[in-house]
Amino acid sequence: MAANLPQAMAIAQIRDENARTKTFVLDGRLEAAPGQFVMAWLPGVDEKPFSLAQADPVTLTVAAVGPFSRALHSLAVGDRLWLRGPLGHGFTLPERGSSSVSVSRPHPERGSSSASVSRPYTERGSSSASVSRPHPERGSSSVSVSRPHTERGSSSASVSRPHTLLLGGGYGVAPLRFLAERLLATGHAVSMIIGARSAAELLLVDAFTAMEVRLWLATEDGSAGLRGLATDVIAPALAAAPAETAMVYACGPTGMLRALAAICQARELPVQLSWEAPMRCGIGLCSSCEVGDGWLTCLDGPVFGFDPSR
Ligand SMILES: Cc1cc2nc3c(=O)[nH]c(=O)nc-3n(C[C@H](O)[C@H](O)[C@H](O)COP(=O)(O)OP(=O)(O)OC[C@H]3O[C@@H](n4cnc5c(N)ncnc54)[C@H](O)[C@@H]3O)c2cc1C
Ligand code: FES
Repeated sequence: MAANLPQAMAIAQIRDENARTKTFVLDGRLEAAPGQFVMAWLPGVDEKPFSLAQADPVTLTVAAVGPFSRALHSLAVGDRLWLRGPLGHGFTLPERGSSSVSVSRPHPERGSSSASVSRPYTERGSSSASVSRPHPERGSSSVSVSRPHTERGSSSASVSRPHTLLLGGGYGVAPLRFLAERLLATGHAVSMIIGARSAAELLLVDAFTAMEVRLWLATEDGSAGLRGLATDVIAPALAAAPAETAMVYACGPTGMLRALAAICQARELPVQLSWEAPMRCGIGLCSSCEVGDGWLTCLDGPVFGFDPSR
């Protein structure tokens, strides 16, 4: 389908993930990269962006926090919603043994010609692209972990596979499962950190436990895994990694992404962050999703290789 024409899909299955989060499996499929999003429209309610938790079949994982998401939660199997997409730039896979390639893309200072940005990673067979740009020198930060962590899942990752580290907070865990499946299928080792306020709010732990990933949990109240934030687990997860980390990926609350960007800058680790901003059009026309130095989250992102807000 043309990405910007709404397409009706019916709900084939609804799963309760936790007290405020449901997963909706729809009866259609999209050709999409992990990290891309759709605009979901409910006539008479609103249209909002949602990351693809899966593309085949189309799957959305939604936290009920306000009018639109509650309206989605009130739907039943067989009800329809209308989707535009896939939209935006998704995550790209680390390219084995590659050095950076330079690409140009329009700079957010509209009217200027273009800015050269470095794009070290390409996803085979995908048209999506993520970019990275050098971080300005803004000092360093460090993370210390004061308590033993909890590592679950497989420890059989081969040292020969490039290692990737994924961090998910809230419903941001859902598109990372889609990404983890792609990474595993293309021969990467995966460590996954899931963060939440409490054990009851952790998302998709069973799904990740069933995958061949090193799984780390962090809860703010200590009811599962490490007591602390997802970013507190980065140091032990990197220390236990079976190989040098080729890429860090994250999706979750803005505070977590900002902290992670600073940590990756200090450790000189490449990172891809799935950023959120209020969206109306989803295709670069309205500027409602503009962040930082004029980046349009819907068009330039939502996945950025840097903190776009700075
Ligand atoms: C690229 C992109 C991908 C997104 N993917 C998803 C997704 O996969 N799943 C999903 O559930 N949402 C996702 N969102 C957010 C989604 O688009 C809506 O913003 C969200 O559903 C809230 O809309 P609402 O109308 O229900 O509530 P709003 O009226 O927009 O918000 C109600 C209140 O809740 C607050 N709020 C909004 N989101 C959260 C949150 N996550 N946790 C706590 N408080 C919150 C708002 O600040 C506001 O105070 C995504 C947003 C973007 C930009
Ligand atoms: S949502 Fe309209 S420009 Fe991004």
